[in-house]
Amino acid sequence: MSAPIVDLSVHHQPTGVSDRIAYGFTKMLRFCADTFFAKRYGHRAIVLETVAAVPGMVGATINHLKCLRRMCDDKGWIRTLMDEAENERMHLMTFIEVAKPTMFERLVIMGVQWVFYLAFFALYLVSSKTAHRIVGYFEEEAVLSYTLYLKEIDEGRSKNVPAPEIAKRYWNLPEGSTLRDVVLVVRADEAHHRDVNHGFANELDGLPVDKARIAPSPYHDTGIKLAA
Ligand SMILES: [Fe+2]
Ligand SMILES: [Fe+2]
Repeated sequence: MSAPIVDLSVHHQPTGVSDRIAYGFTKMLRFCADTFFAKRYGHRAIVLETVAAVPGMVGATINHLKCLRRMCDDKGWIRTLMDEAENERMHLMTFIEVAKPTMFERLVIMGVQWVFYLAFFALYLVSSKTAHRIVGYFEEEAVLSYTLYLKEIDEGRSKNVPAPEIAKRYWNLPEGSTLRDVVLVVRADEAHHRDVNHGFANELDGLPVDKARIAPSPYHDTGIKLAA
């Protein structure tokens, strides 16, 4: 399975206060990540994927509870968000085979999870539109970061090691696949999350949503058993 082509130019132009807050917050976090990780893309992927796997589960939980209370249809949002959360966790399980986090990074992951989960949950309750917009912007940055990771591999600064087994099973990659093939499908996943979340934010904002322009999700196994 080859990764779908990714449109790198997609950017939601911020309109209104909520979008500007979401964009400003994302750019501030980008600055922190760039300062902390510099070009250690394997480590960067591990730490940031532990964060990226949170919003989908929060959004799914809150929408699930809302649909139960209101006894209404979810229009497919819950399953989409749960698949996003699992997909991000599989990114983590893949990159943990490529790089090993330091003790300090493990401590950062624990601290950040407490703060980010609670803050994102609260934000989603107050403004789900802003929450999805933030994820859309996070994913724009993720597409950019994985593009830079590809450049590191192509220019020989990161070794193009064989693809981890778990990645080959999850994305159905052929034998002989490498880290480069994995980063390509991960980047395509991020582009899909980007467009889905900007689409959700637009829908909540009453703006038109062009579903045909959502980047396709690469094939992935939705029933993988990690212990298999
Ligand atoms: Fe990811
Ligand atoms: Fe993502």
